[in-house]
Amino acid sequence: MKKPDKQMRSVWSISTPKPMEKKFGKHPTQKPFNLLERVVLASTNEGDIVLDPFTGSSTTGLAAYSYGRKFIGIDKETEYLDLSIKRFEDLKKEMKIKGRQNSLKAWETNGKAR
Ligand SMILES: C[S@@+](CC[C@H](N)C(=O)[O-])C[C@H]1O[C@@H](n2cnc3c(N)ncnc32)[C@H](O)[C@@H]1O
Repeated sequence: MKKPDKQMRSVWSISTPKPMEKKFGKHPTQKPFNLLERVVLASTNEGDIVLDPFTGSSTTGLAAYSYGRKFIGIDKETEYLDLSIKRFEDLKKEMKIKGRQNSLKAWETNGKAR
C-alpha cells in the first residue's frame, strides 16, 4: 500500500517472486511473499490459524508465520511439501538470528537489490 493510513486500492501492483523466494526451487504458480503478506494482514489477527488446503510452496504459510499466525498447509504433491519445509526451516532460522522485524526487512531489500 503506498499510503499506509488510506483505504487499500482494489487493484494491487506487486512484482513477481524475488530471487531469494526461489532459492530452494520454485512452485509453478508461486505467489510473491508481499502479496500474501498483505492478504494475511488484511484478513487475520495474531494467533489466528490460517489454513491453505492447496498450499503449494506455502507462501501463505510463510507470511502467516512471519506475523504470529499459526498455519496448516496441505498439498497432494510431496515435492511441494518438501519445498515448503525447506522454506519454513530457512524462515525460522532467519527469524531466530535476526528477529522478526529484521527478517521481514530482508524480504523487501533482497528484491530491490536485484
Ligand atoms: C495454485 S497451487 C497453490 C498455490 C498456493 N496456495 C499459493 O497461493 O501460492 C495449487 C496446489 O494445489 C495442489 N493440489 C491440487 N489438487 C489437490 C488436492 N486434491 N489435494 C491437495 N492438494 C492439491 C497442487 O499440487 C498445487 O500445488
